[in-house]
Amino acid sequence: MPSPNCIADLRDLARRRVPRAIFEYADRGSYDEVTFKRNRRDLEAFEFRQRVMVDVSKQSLKTTMLGEPCTIPVAIAPTGLTGLFHANGEMLGARAAEQYGIPFCLSTMSICSIEDVRSATSKPFWFQLYLMRDRGFNAELIDRAKAAGCSALVLTVDMPIQGLRRRDPKNGLSIPPRLTVRNAIDIAMRPTWALKVLLGKRRTFGNLAGRMSNTGGLTTLSQWIASQFDPTVTWKDIEWVRSRWPGKLILKGILDADDARLACENAADALVVSNHGGRQLDGAPSTISVLPEVVEAVGGRCEVLFDGGVQSGQDVLKALALGARGCLIGKTFLYALAAMGEAGVLLALDIISKELQVSLALTGSNDVREVNPNILRRRAVSYID
Ligand SMILES: Cc1cc2nc3c(=O)[nH]c(=O)nc-3n(C[C@H](O)[C@H](O)[C@H](O)COP(=O)(O)O)c2cc1C
Repeated sequence: MPSPNCIADLRDLARRRVPRAIFEYADRGSYDEVTFKRNRRDLEAFEFRQRVMVDVSKQSLKTTMLGEPCTIPVAIAPTGLTGLFHANGEMLGARAAEQYGIPFCLSTMSICSIEDVRSATSKPFWFQLYLMRDRGFNAELIDRAKAAGCSALVLTVDMPIQGLRRRDPKNGLSIPPRLTVRNAIDIAMRPTWALKVLLGKRRTFGNLAGRMSNTGGLTTLSQWIASQFDPTVTWKDIEWVRSRWPGKLILKGILDADDARLACENAADALVVSNHGGRQLDGAPSTISVLPEVVEAVGGRCEVLFDGGVQSGQDVLKALALGARGCLIGKTFLYALAAMGEAGVLLALDIISKELQVSLALTGSNDVREVNPNILRRRAVSYID
């Protein structure tokens, strides 16, 4: 097969490399996937204005996120179970991010632990936190993130309870993955994955060691999440987080201008406009459609990051034009990792970077920090399907 030169190629490769239950865990959204599809469709609906006869010889893709220099305005989103897409997945993802010069965010629900990722990197990474009923455990996780030198805490606020991704129970997704009669053929057709992941050292939640007795299948995992994640969390709990974490705080999962204002009032250093990749509230708007109103509500009080459906440099440019400081990539990262490991993640970043550079030039722009809605033809996307 010729070398992949777009994210869709990496997705095709990923589908062949990992068992169906793992691939579909990443590739699908919640319930009827209305929001999941809107994320892509609304991004595609924006058009660029093609501008000509402008000197575009001095391109700059560099920016900063929370004061950290980034070679491109992209960060790797926190994704649970990453180490099931490729052995030591979080360590490889973090290494690729460090090598490329962008932030990497480790999920609470990762396979490699905070300490594993620390040992694989030499620059600080971000740590994503879910608030649990057992605040003592959250305090421990925050302390571990501090000890690992994490440069930002990403508090995910859009999952007080979990939306159903219908494929997961149907596929019998279990943690750690098990060989069953149902998935035996699927796994047998992917011997490299089986050898490295199924028989590898890291196969269950690295940060939750000792917290999770036998998960016994996804139903139990969902039940575990339901029993551990705290559905009572409100804005007052940010104070508790702040008292434990004096560093940079990012609130992830803001999809409404009113919540964006509250995030600013609660001293967030940044927020991520996110609907969890269409994996939570189905029927919610796409992230790109709410980005302009969130940016306006924030009014420069904190940085606005963006995720949801970003699969190309063009997508990144659209989000920047509408006021995002940078974009997080979830599925794109997982496809690349599953397809080709660390090299795949580097390749995906390179693909996005080159697409971004060319698109920037063809809109008559030179600097990613200076783009504005004028490079787009449509300023708002209809909410009506
Ligand atoms: C397989 C998968 C697992 C995820 N796990 C987490 C998680 O543990 N914590 C979190 O805050 N977000 C999680 N997310 C959401 C991502 O951080 C991000 O918001 C989303 O993937 C962005 O959309 P995209 O996949 O279209 O890029 C996950 C997303 C995927 C696809």
